[in-house]
Amino acid sequence: MSTTVLLPTPEHIQQLAAYIRDGEIVAFPTETVYGLGADATKTSAVQKIFTAKNRPANNPLIVHVAHREDIGKYVYITHPLEELLIEKLMPGPLTLVMPTREMISPLVLAGRPTVAIRVPAHPVAQAFLEAVDCPIAAPSANRSGRPSPTTAEMVLADMDGLIPSILDGWPCAYGIESTVAIVLDGKVAIRRPGFVTKEDLQQVVGPDVEVYFATTQLESAPGNMYKHYSPGIPVYITQDITNSVNEGVFKKAIIIATTETRDLVSETAKNNEHIIYMNRWSKNDLVTCASRLYQLYHEASTSWADAIYIEALPEQGLGLSIMNRVKKSAQQ
Ligand code: TXA
Ligand code: MG
Repeated sequence: MSTTVLLPTPEHIQQLAAYIRDGEIVAFPTETVYGLGADATKTSAVQKIFTAKNRPANNPLIVHVAHREDIGKYVYITHPLEELLIEKLMPGPLTLVMPTREMISPLVLAGRPTVAIRVPAHPVAQAFLEAVDCPIAAPSANRSGRPSPTTAEMVLADMDGLIPSILDGWPCAYGIESTVAIVLDGKVAIRRPGFVTKEDLQQVVGPDVEVYFATTQLESAPGNMYKHYSPGIPVYITQDITNSVNEGVFKKAIIIATTETRDLVSETAKNNEHIIYMNRWSKNDLVTCASRLYQLYHEASTSWADAIYIEALPEQGLGLSIMNRVKKSAQQ
């Protein structure tokens, strides 16, 4: 199979929408990461996603719809908190898990009675979803275990020959995945941290409603138990990168350090030809860190480096979501 990359002209969007209606899979951009989509109501189409990604069959998929008004067609909205979250945070990088209606393929649900649903805010994703006129099931457009792609080029690098087409909607603005949440017993449980933070959710639901991170295996997203976000070379997290550099522990390493330690690191690193120093990371600009993480991993994995050393960010707000991905990638 050869993989075609198409720019999002109206003609290409119509052409790829027709592929989806015919039961094909298409990679497309969202504001978080690129997704690999299929008609969520067609089991044979959804099966192609699992095959192309080599994804475990018990890891359910997120369903994407064009408008928040479409959500009720595919799930039962039963709680006022769900209505509130939909009204305030969708379209956007929030995914809500709710009881499914019957037309969603059981393969999407991986045997569950619930479906995870979201409304992307990306204009190309919205145009594509309007053109297909069906809900699109889409995990991130990477082979299972690899970092999520944030550009069409990254999708191609990971999935060339495994998928027929990629809709190129330029680099994703946010760069890490949506937050997966569920309303349970009048509380909001975060099943996967993502671009929408706990603080964002708390602000929407108000101080009287508890917002918490699901911790048990049963409560958290099934995807959390798999190997994840691996750039293909070992990732080491370091709290004090300047010390590590000074001690010369790096051999052919990519260093992802914050701008706060730039001067200290670069002085040492510039005398060491085995170090590539990527200074695009700042404790004061977590939005930029999020948008760059997977891109940096991609660049590192295609370089000669044997390892990535990454400076830890404070685990608060968006920093917590970013470090969730970094820790998983380091846990090989
Ligand atoms: O930003 C995103 O969420 C991207 C874009 C393409 O929308 N999608 C994405 O999908 O990251 P994926 O498949 O890589 O991650 C989906 C996560 C997994 O951890 C999965 O286990 C969880 O959502 N999930 C899906 N359906 C669920 C359900 N019914 N109940 C609980 N968790 C669910
Ligand atoms: Mg994924």
